Amino acid sequence: MKDIIGILDSGVGGISVLRRAVQLLPNENFLFYGDNANAPYGPRSLEEIRILSRQATDYLLERDVKALVIACNTITSAYAETLRAEVSIPVIGMEPAVKPASLARSGGKILALATRATLSLERFSRLMEHYGEGVIPLEGKGLVELVEAGRANSPEARAALAAIFEPYLDQQIDGIVLGCTHYPFLRRQIEAFFPKAQIFDGLDGTARQLKRRLEDAGLLTEQNVPGRVIFESSGGADMLELMRELLTAEL
Ligand code: DGL
Repeated sequence: MKDIIGILDSGVGGISVLRRAVQLLPNENFLFYGDNANAPYGPRSLEEIRILSRQATDYLLERDVKALVIACNTITSAYAETLRAEVSIPVIGMEPAVKPASLARSGGKILALATRATLSLERFSRLMEHYGEGVIPLEGKGLVELVEAGRANSPEARAALAAIFEPYLDQQIDGIVLGCTHYPFLRRQIEAFFPKAQIFDGLDGTARQLKRRLEDAGLLTEQNVPGRVIFESSGGADMLELMRELLTAEL
């Protein structure tokens, strides 16, 4: 087993998780893989998402990673349980931060933004059963495509968000759940629509969970120099460049 952590997303969104993981665990080595050629996964059928998720996780497992972070709510919802049953390394997944958002609610509503697949799968239904009071699920239509195209700060992104948020602009919105790892790259644009709302992105929780799982399994690196970050993609050189940009972009 190599001294490297695999981080996976359908595309560049998982870089939002990688950023926090590098901050928290600066001496670890990371291999980030984005299946950009097949992104977005969100509008696909469950069967297609499972096939693509298997291919993408196999890609990282073949690289002998010591732990695997599924930096994608969609892949986690569709495939994490299957994967966990098959591998012995720590697998860290993600789910929309509906629970903390709902616990922090103070009389207004929570907008839970995620991909179509995430919203339609059982994991999300279970979250809604327990914490769904006052929570409005919203599909982030078109948003992943814009982030993949490097257009998170564009007028088109603003227009796509305006179309999604329009029915809620005159309501009291206490919190917004960013239930897809691409959405933190739209954070500033989202905050501009609801300046009073608290944003819940689940990124810190995921990085902390990774640290805990490595500690528990005795897998924390022993090297005491800054680790390497390697990017790989099914989508070609442009995507690698975008990944590098997003790793250090100001959010
Ligand atoms: N970044 C992924 C997530 O967290 C999904 C993007 C996609 O639709 O491919 O859900």
